[in-house]
Amino acid sequence: MINFIYTLLGSLGYHHPLHPVLVHLPIGLTMGALVLSLAARILHKPELHRSAYHALILTAIFSVAALFVGFMDWRHYFNGAWLRPIAIKIFIAIPFTCLMLLGIGIGYLKGPQSKALLPIYMLGFFSVMSLGYFGGELTFSARSPIAISILSAGQNLFEANCGSCHAFGGNSLVPSKPLHSSPQLASLDKFKAHVRNPTLAGGAQAMMPAFSEKKLSDADLEKLYVYIQRYIVQPQCATSQIP
Ligand code: HEC
Repeated sequence: MINFIYTLLGSLGYHHPLHPVLVHLPIGLTMGALVLSLAARILHKPELHRSAYHALILTAIFSVAALFVGFMDWRHYFNGAWLRPIAIKIFIAIPFTCLMLLGIGIGYLKGPQSKALLPIYMLGFFSVMSLGYFGGELTFSARSPIAISILSAGQNLFEANCGSCHAFGGNSLVPSKPLHSSPQLASLDKFKAHVRNPTLAGGAQAMMPAFSEKKLSDADLEKLYVYIQRYIVQPQCATSQIP
């Protein structure tokens, strides 16, 4: 179903995630609600309380929509991978949406001037700031100078040591054991153990050459692992090309 939606959008010429397009609506409205509510108090203009409350109602509507498409993007572009920034974003976004719904209830029962709404506007403000921060980490972390140096070192190591047999994440000697879907990549420790001493299921010596610490240090293997994960196992996560 999710793939069908993205295929349909693709056929219309839209090839991007949906969440970044929608998410600005609840962010802007949350900021607006706080500013209007503060202005109502500082400038003694009670009608602005009503505007702030209306912004809050719209925030709740659009944050449900942003959550929904965020979930779809996560399944489609990240294969549902449980990455740290995604877990934190979900952990903040769900209570944030509930908070906005609570605000609607308070405003409905006690009126838009209710003092109880101010902490909700403030908490909402801090929540969207945090959501933005982790969204940025997800989108731009691969472009940070450290990430780029690790990834490009990983790429050089891959090309020099692995690319001859595993070009494009495949396996030219044993095509049934491509790199991109290898169970040996499940964790860094498993990967290191395999590269240091490649063995077959029955314990027999594999065709793949062993790489001792003299050839590739532990730090080299970590860089290789990051590169393989990012560009071979989950290429859809790659938001930028290595310069
Ligand atoms: C000379 C060819 C060759 C080179 C070079 C090579 N490999 Fe392999 N690799 C293989 C073969 C062949 C297999 C399949 C198992 C076997 O028979 O050895 C394999 C299997 C693997 C697997 C497990 C795949 C699976 O599904 O079980 C991983 C992970 C792997 N290689 C990573 C690497 C890395 C990382 C490098 C570079 C440091 C590398 N290989 C270099 C030939 C090579």
